[in-house]
Amino acid sequence: MAYYSDYLALDVLLNAQHPESDKHGKPAHDEMLFIITHQTFELWFKQVLVEVGTVITSLNRAYVPETDIALCLARVQRVNRIMEHLVNQFTLIETMTPGDFMDFRAYLNPASGFQSIQWRILERTLGIPENVRVNKHYMDALSEEHRTALDDATNGPTLFAAIQRWLEQIPFMESGKYAFWDAYKVAVLAMLENDRTEVRTLAVAEGNDPTAAVVQIDANERGFLALFEAESYAELLASGARRMSQRATLATLFISTYRDKPLLHTPYRLLDAIIELDKVVSLWRFRHTLMVSRMIGMRVGTGGSSGHDYLMQTAMKQRVFDDLTSLSSFLVPSHVTPELPAEIATRLQFVNEAKG
Ligand code: HEM
Repeated sequence: MAYYSDYLALDVLLNAQHPESDKHGKPAHDEMLFIITHQTFELWFKQVLVEVGTVITSLNRAYVPETDIALCLARVQRVNRIMEHLVNQFTLIETMTPGDFMDFRAYLNPASGFQSIQWRILERTLGIPENVRVNKHYMDALSEEHRTALDDATNGPTLFAAIQRWLEQIPFMESGKYAFWDAYKVAVLAMLENDRTEVRTLAVAEGNDPTAAVVQIDANERGFLALFEAESYAELLASGARRMSQRATLATLFISTYRDKPLLHTPYRLLDAIIELDKVVSLWRFRHTLMVSRMIGMRVGTGGSSGHDYLMQTAMKQRVFDDLTSLSSFLVPSHVTPELPAEIATRLQFVNEAKG
């Protein structure tokens, strides 16, 4: 028979706070808050890893049934809510003043968030490319045991890879002579031409020079065309400008363009939730950085980094799903969205609508 505190292992959990300041004979009241805050973060990281793990397993398959997409969506949304909760949770630790923190900070050396193995597992599991990492030597902060555990926990596909694999299988993009990308290219080129005309007309009316704006539109057009040509796309991949495969990129455009078609609703919402996930992880980084600058100003971290400056850079540079976010540059307004061939449009309806 289960008993509340046994079931929750409260004996272990509630006896797992051991302030260093007590051990040094100089008890610092706020160290308990500091420990419990970190522990609760780590507990939530554990839940996040469980959710992300199941999403990867569901998507990393040769065929992903529609019902599983709905489940993946629910799980990613849960992760997003947890991360938002954690972003808000920083206000708790901010009830500790920088002065109170100084009372026990020295005892923490050289322990640091650098040694949060779950955070490192999460970063790798999401699929942060190693070449964008600000701290190339992050493994050095970990114990031998944790280095092995990190490698073991992350030797499977990343969320990025799983999302890419799923996108690559999205059907409906081609049928007979129809290919989505051909129709879409015509629509976008017409839209950009229209943008050029508008920019020039406006500049003439206001007596301004339209060159800079037209140069920007030209650059957008080149970027857009490169998505459709295998060779140019390979160059984008080689230069690091894009990471996601061409097929997955085109599928993202397709889903985003026809998101109102019933069968694409859930896939679209899943992509949206993934973009949101990237956002909440960045928000976590920013929020942590703001809290850190308030607590220690411009001091170096206990883990030896430059502190605020290092953390700010991780927030700016270490994004995973930029490929999805950046595609917004190439979305067209609904009035110029190319019509789908009737056969594909029918297949994208729910079964009962298609029959009616
Ligand atoms: C007074 C509160 C805190 C201060 C002053 C602080 C300070 C820092 C600093 C300076 C770093 C950079 C590494 C270093 O040189 O040590 C860091 C990293 C980190 N901290 Fe905190 N931190 C605090 C609270 C927290 C909390 C509550 C968490 C929650 C788990 C956390 C998690 C992390 C993680 C995961 C990293 C690694 C970030 C990365 O390398 O991308 N920190 N922290």
